[in-house]
Amino acid sequence: MCHECSEGHPASDSPVAGGAAPSRRTFARFLAAGAGLTVLAACTPDGATQLPPSSSPAGTATPSAAAAAASSPTPDSPTPQASPTETSSAPVPSSSAAALPQQHSLTDPASPWLVVNKHRPLVPADYVPADLVQPNVRLAVSGEAALLNSTTAAAAEQLFASAAGDGVTMTLASGYRSYGTQMATYNGYVSTRGQPEADTASARPGHSEHQTGWAFDIGDGGGACGFQPCFADQPAAAWAKANAYRFGFVVRYPWMFHPVTGYYYESWHLRYVGVEAAKDMRKGGVNTLEEYFGLEAAPGYL
Ligand code: DAL
Ligand code: ZN
Repeated sequence: MCHECSEGHPASDSPVAGGAAPSRRTFARFLAAGAGLTVLAACTPDGATQLPPSSSPAGTATPSAAAAAASSPTPDSPTPQASPTETSSAPVPSSSAAALPQQHSLTDPASPWLVVNKHRPLVPADYVPADLVQPNVRLAVSGEAALLNSTTAAAAEQLFASAAGDGVTMTLASGYRSYGTQMATYNGYVSTRGQPEADTASARPGHSEHQTGWAFDIGDGGGACGFQPCFADQPAAAWAKANAYRFGFVVRYPWMFHPVTGYYYESWHLRYVGVEAAKDMRKGGVNTLEEYFGLEAAPGYL
């Protein structure tokens, strides 16, 4: 259970910033003090801790599921190496043993393999998907937040239907966000928490997957854990973690990979990459897109 943990700060990724829970900086300092091992183990939603990748050759754009062998979770060694607010260009382990040939651009915002992070802003910064549609799923939001790009929307409909078939209630809690909306969201975090902490939870405008239509956040229809660390323990998140890959999605900001992704665990944030890549990552035990595509870690802005 993770309810007492400050990792995965409450309301992280919520369009509305706020909350008065323990700060992530406090958590980072706690880790830095080397005193968090027991708590970390207790906080891991599925009981398994994960060790972020640490070093490797510089990246290639070729997917490399074999990289997982060098970076797979280390259950008994939860030793995060950097706060996501720290800037680092430490490359993520890569491998020449490509599992899939490169099929899509890693930089085109319209590509399902786009990698956008703190080192890789959207180009153009004010990108707007040309094919935004509202998926036929249970909605917890309206307006632009209920939109996804057409490919993601179709896959989301399948995912939600499958979850419902398994008796799991899932809602679309936050989909597309324009540059302007992301700016308001990010600025809301900054005003309530300060910029260093805001940067661990919300992407700066022009750096969010939500702006691409390839990502969305799930809810569970009214539970108290929406956008909270405890959401990881809810059926919707557990189901998504176990099944999302079958529909082409990954949990983009996994537990303990904040030194790579730049964000603490967001059990609610799903990113479409296509079924083939999602299954390949799953099969190889690859946790992040940075790792999969051999890109450098992006814990902080350059
Ligand atoms: N919470 C994610 C990182 C976003 O703001 O896009
Ligand atoms: Zn999100």
